[in-house]
Amino acid sequence: MDPVDIGPPDARAARAGCQHLALDDTPRRGQGGRSAGCRQLGGTQARAVPGVRPVLAARAAYRSRSRTHQRQRNRAAPNRLTHFERSNDLMRFKTIGTIGAGPIARAVATHATKAGHRVLLSNNHGPETLGDVVDSLGPNASAVSFDEAVTADIILLAVPFVAVPEVARRLPDWSGRVVVDMTNQFAEVNPYRGFADVSPLTGSEWVAQHLPGAVIIKAFNSMFATYAEAEPRHQEGAQVVFFAGDDAPSKHGFAQMVAGLGFAPIDLGTLRDGGALMQLGGALSGKHFLFQG
Ligand SMILES: NC(=O)c1ccc[n+]([C@@H]2O[C@H](COP(=O)([O-])OP(=O)(O)OC[C@H]3O[C@@H](n4cnc5c(N)ncnc54)[C@H](OP(=O)(O)O)[C@@H]3O)[C@@H](O)[C@H]2O)c1
Repeated sequence: MDPVDIGPPDARAARAGCQHLALDDTPRRGQGGRSAGCRQLGGTQARAVPGVRPVLAARAAYRSRSRTHQRQRNRAAPNRLTHFERSNDLMRFKTIGTIGAGPIARAVATHATKAGHRVLLSNNHGPETLGDVVDSLGPNASAVSFDEAVTADIILLAVPFVAVPEVARRLPDWSGRVVVDMTNQFAEVNPYRGFADVSPLTGSEWVAQHLPGAVIIKAFNSMFATYAEAEPRHQEGAQVVFFAGDDAPSKHGFAQMVAGLGFAPIDLGTLRDGGALMQLGGALSGKHFLFQG
């Protein structure tokens, strides 16, 4: 494919670039914490247990101690949520907004409405043009304005890549929004004009620069909409959804949501590393996998 240079992000996006660098630190801290925890657990087991039975006994003792501690903590602060409750109640994305209502947004909306999410679809021509789409998706779907779509718990960005700057300008501050970047870097699809070169950034890093304050998760872009729309649960395994991003809690909530739709979410890491694999020309672009877990 011939790259087409569509120029650097505007000045506001360039300023937001600093913010992106800060975001980029987040996963490294999070990942460091998680893996440090795993190493510690492994080390304890290795020291304490030469065989299988003692491992089980040690684990049982550990669980029992933790349950006692948890009960004590709950008695001390009955209103405080456990980590499990927090991750289930607060991180679940119940409402899903879409910017763009083309094939890929509708594919995800199909599964999301069936799974009980409320889906707020928006497009360029206005909600009145989305009647048929909403009717086909059923009562959990509605056609809304852009302003309403961006109030959802999580927002699917499903517009042509080159429309991103225009979409971004509709909201001066994207702080607190979790946006799933589903775009592919086509400079123009019809007629085809190759792909938009935003190097050295990955496509999603470029998108992140245009949406100051938003948490960006790249996902679904590497799948064909027809495959994304099909039932993801196959006898041979679940359809894989790759995702990448720089904010660990949002990725956790996203993975929960996607698993709830029947897909097998697989975290590819940061927007830089994972995004590079998923974007046009990346090793996983246009590849479809079944997960046999
Ligand atoms: N189709 C696929 O198989 C597939 C798979 C994965 C990823 N993708 C990527 O996902 C994105 C969407 O592709 P698609 O094929 O689903 O849709 P599409 O046919 O490209 O339609 C684009 C949608 O975006 C809306 N839109 C365009 N400009 C807009 C703007 N400035 N503000 C708000 N909405 C705007 C359009 O609204 P109107 O209808 O009102 O014009 C339409 O609903 C693209 O970046 C594509 O590369 C596509």
